[in-house]
Amino acid sequence: MRVLGLETSCDETAAAVIEIDAADTERPRARALSDVVHTQTEVHARFGGVVPELASRDHLQRALPVVDQALQQAQVTLADLDGIAVTCGPGLVGALLVGVQLAKSLALASGKPLVGTNHLEGHLLAALLSDDAPAPPFLGLVVSGGHTSLYEVAAIGSYKLLGSTLDDAAGEAFDKVAKLLGLPYPGGVHIDRLARTGDPKAHAFPRGLARRKRDQLDFSFSGLKTAVRVHVEEHGVPTGQALNDLCASFQEAVCDALTARAVRAARAARLERLVICGGVAANSRLRSLAQERCAADGIHLHLPAVKLCTDNGAMIALSGALRLARGQRASMDLTADPGLRL
Ligand code: KG4
Ligand code: ZN
Repeated sequence: MRVLGLETSCDETAAAVIEIDAADTERPRARALSDVVHTQTEVHARFGGVVPELASRDHLQRALPVVDQALQQAQVTLADLDGIAVTCGPGLVGALLVGVQLAKSLALASGKPLVGTNHLEGHLLAALLSDDAPAPPFLGLVVSGGHTSLYEVAAIGSYKLLGSTLDDAAGEAFDKVAKLLGLPYPGGVHIDRLARTGDPKAHAFPRGLARRKRDQLDFSFSGLKTAVRVHVEEHGVPTGQALNDLCASFQEAVCDALTARAVRAARAARLERLVICGGVAANSRLRSLAQERCAADGIHLHLPAVKLCTDNGAMIALSGALRLARGQRASMDLTADPGLRL
């Protein structure tokens, strides 16, 4: 089965064609035949964050060329496809609508089945495109710019929310702290780079709810963000080694909170496998700390390659293909749902 996936929920216009043997519903074998991502970083950088109106307009300009490129790279035409999948939510409504309308047009023109998918499901299932694909049940930690949530994945299509952030998402915290420090948008990757030569013990930043509510599986990053802001207000924006130390200490606090909760949740739910996904899963310290802690606790960790962690079309094609295999189809009434839950 070959499926085209289209993703326009935020600031990446992405399309991919995947080939999947969905016969084994537990561990379907899938590979990307193409994976094209156009990022809008340059469009939003000077505003220090995503401007929804500009995002929609850029998706409008880029979506068709990106789809064309994905089909060409995969050496297929619309006629060779078994379905067209598109992200319906969650995300920015105007941005989502561009993808949904284009997917509907392609489905109508080609007569191929259309299916709407959830962006978070896409992130959770991206690991299935890796060589080390996890079979459910597993625990999924989605850490992105808009979400920080723990899901128990009992089976593909069956997701139970165990905990999520009470305020900022982890990626949002990275980006806001980066802005405070005068780093370019999106800041996560810049903090990651500077932190490599910083001392994570230079500042003892708070770990969210860690001490107050030991048993719960929610997250909180606003206190940490405030602690960095107060530090900067008192001492000014650091430079050189002091900047690297601040980045490393902030990053350590985020990664400590994320990995501690994930390992605790895996133990509590008796799950032997943990998948960490979403843009923040590209963070080098999160990857190494998760590896350390999972090894110590006997948990099998699945970390998709970095390009599968950040927004991409392959994860949407995959979650759409699995929905098609379960018999789901969308009608021409399909629309964007910015608050879509999983
Ligand atoms: O999943 P994603 O590409 O888009 C959303 O669905 O939000 O995640 C984007 C987020 C941004 O906040 C970005 O700063 C963060 O992922 N990010 C990182 C790294 N690479 C991307 N955060 C920390 N370290 C990184 N290396
Ligand atoms: Zn995402």
